[in-house]
Amino acid sequence: MAEKKYIPQLPEGTQIPVHIGMIMDGNGRWAKKRGLPRKFGHREGAQTFRTITRHAKNCGVKYFTVYAFSTENWKRPKDEVEAIMDLFEKYLDEVRDFIEENIRICFIGDRSMLRPELQRKMASVEEDSRDFKAMTLLIAINYGGRDEIVHAAKRLAQEVKEGKTDPSMITEDMLNSRLYTAELDGDIAPDVDLIIRPSGEQRLSNFMIWQAAYAEYYFTNILWPDFKPADLEKAIIAYSDRNRRFGSV
Ligand code: FPP
Repeated sequence: MAEKKYIPQLPEGTQIPVHIGMIMDGNGRWAKKRGLPRKFGHREGAQTFRTITRHAKNCGVKYFTVYAFSTENWKRPKDEVEAIMDLFEKYLDEVRDFIEENIRICFIGDRSMLRPELQRKMASVEEDSRDFKAMTLLIAINYGGRDEIVHAAKRLAQEVKEGKTDPSMITEDMLNSRLYTAELDGDIAPDVDLIIRPSGEQRLSNFMIWQAAYAEYYFTNILWPDFKPADLEKAIIAYSDRNRRFGSV
């Protein structure tokens, strides 16, 4: 589908975050406000996801991670889970235009629990987009920050068992390079600089808890389906105006 083009209108000198994490929240409330079933909110949210991902790339963001489905989201009614998975699969079928935009697509999370057809499509999209350089889009699906740390810890434990390393030698870098965000075909996503959460909630909800150790946070009451390119720019400008010290003075 042809997308409207939005030209970024960022003031000169704006510091662009290298890595943005987006918690796409508020789809259910958006639908409820209109008297519609929740899945209509997700459908609208998937459209917003397309528009905002493109805009992030046009603003010069290098890594854009979206929280599409958490390890806790399986607790939702079956038909809602199915609707989200269907939207995700539809997106994978239509993803070619993203590839044309030079966006590399990767997935983070435990994919073993997803439908086999979905897993196959994910692997194929990753393969087809591996050489694209404008931006890396990371889609977090069946993702949990704690699960990711456990996954990394298991890998380290196995290496200790095999005599490849010693527990006293384990460093932050070693754990970091065993997270899902380090499984990007030889690339490791940098720490997230800015986390954006629309919909009025002000929490991380198990999203990139390791990578967000020094992140800036931006919260807005706008519901995700209503989130516009100009809202992304507002968040980037707010980030640029902050003074990040990374623990120093
Ligand atoms: C949170 O809103 C949103 C989700 C759990 C699903 C996000 C999924 C999409 C945007 C569409 C599919 C994704 C892709 C990548 C095509 P909520 O349902 O918790 O909203 P609420 O808090 O208002 O109930």
